[in-house]
Amino acid sequence: MASPESSVHRPDPPVCLVLGAGALGRLWAAYLPDNSRGFIPRKRDQTGHCRYALVTPTGEIRPVNVPWRQPASPDIPDCLLVTTKAQDTLTALTDVLQHLLPQTPIVLFQNGMGSQQVVAAQWPDRPVLAAVTTEGANRPDADTLIHAGLGETWVGGLNPAGCKAQSRVVTALASSGLIVHSEPDIAQRLLRKLAVNAGINPFTAIIDCPNGDILKQPFYLEHIDELCREIAALMHHKGWQVAASELRQQIEQVARTTAKNTSSMRSDIINGRVTEIRFINGWIAQECQRHHLPSRVNHMLTTWVQDLSAIA
Ligand code: PAF
Repeated sequence: MASPESSVHRPDPPVCLVLGAGALGRLWAAYLPDNSRGFIPRKRDQTGHCRYALVTPTGEIRPVNVPWRQPASPDIPDCLLVTTKAQDTLTALTDVLQHLLPQTPIVLFQNGMGSQQVVAAQWPDRPVLAAVTTEGANRPDADTLIHAGLGETWVGGLNPAGCKAQSRVVTALASSGLIVHSEPDIAQRLLRKLAVNAGINPFTAIIDCPNGDILKQPFYLEHIDELCREIAALMHHKGWQVAASELRQQIEQVARTTAKNTSSMRSDIINGRVTEIRFINGWIAQECQRHHLPSRVNHMLTTWVQDLSAIA
């Protein structure tokens, strides 16, 4: 007997719908092939097309028109890319998933940790995957998307159904022309990215500077080693043996290669949005406490950024 999946007619290339039309969502939508992409509306006025200009890493300007598509429309997606902020993911997905087939893979692009695990626990039978990307994108205004730097993306399953769908999802995402890898250990890759975010984002938000400028700031220099020791001790508990000095090197390498960029957290503070601190240093502090490990610096940075958000 045909499985429900094989009985659904699948056009080629695979249809990917994007939930979350921020910088990262717009980046994927811009590169996915025409007719096989769409944004899922989250507001009443999101109808017709979402139009913006893509500025490629070589400076070329391309007009982009992505349709707003209801998830219940005839073209059921082959894949759902979730590019909402970590704190919005559960609510946004709850609204959408009732319209999607149970076998539609859900690919989570959120920063930090915690939101992915909540989704995987909430829908254990659905294919849930996580993606870690180094693609750089930002939106200087509502109509422009800057693809600041070419990167790479790693995708891996967070549950057994997600692992089964992994190669299908990699093929779907690779139809964009962006570089996509299948990642057998996505949990560790998420932890590596988390450590880098924890060492860059809060400092850029608090000091209010581009990524590269933190490296000479007394506030960063005073706290970075203790921060890295806290993170390394937690990573040890999570099965990743990494020295604090290695973490510092990785943080500083990313800060240097993205020196002129404004981090997502600094941008959130500047624009009066809620930051993802709860899922970055907040998650680390909470996990450290759970394992009776020191968390002073992670806790201090979390509280500081939350206070900045409150007054922004
Ligand atoms: O969150 C961000 O903005 C980026 O992931 C990072 C690592 C700070 C580099 O710009």
